[in-house]
Amino acid sequence: MSTDTHTTGNAKPERLVRLDQLAPGKPHRVEYRGRGILLCRVEDTVYAVQDTCTHEDISLSLGVLCEYRLRCPLHGSQFDIRTGKVLDEPADTDLRTFAVQLIDGWVCLPAD
Ligand code: FES
Repeated sequence: MSTDTHTTGNAKPERLVRLDQLAPGKPHRVEYRGRGILLCRVEDTVYAVQDTCTHEDISLSLGVLCEYRLRCPLHGSQFDIRTGKVLDEPADTDLRTFAVQLIDGWVCLPAD
C-alpha cells in the first residue's frame, strides 16, 4: 500500500471506503469507475486487485483470503494480492492491480 498522496493535475484521489470498515482477511468488493475492485486488508495494509477471476467470469469477493493468497471460489485458482500473479491453476493470467492510497483513514484510488 502506498501512502503517497501525489496526484497529477487537480484530480483528487477517489475515496472508496474507510479503512476501519475493512475487516482484515475478508475480501471487500467496491465499484470504481464502472468496474469491480477487490480490496484486501492484511493488518493495516490494503491491496486492490480486479474483482473478476481471470479464468472465468466470477467475483473473487466470494473467495478465501489467507494472508496474501486469494483463492477463487469456483475452481480454486490462487493469486498473490500484492502483485496479482497467478500462484495456482487453472487461471493462467494475472489479476490487474491498483495502487491504493490511504488518506485520512480512507482507502482511495487515483482519480486519473
Ligand atoms: S473461475 Fe476462478 S479459477 Fe475458474
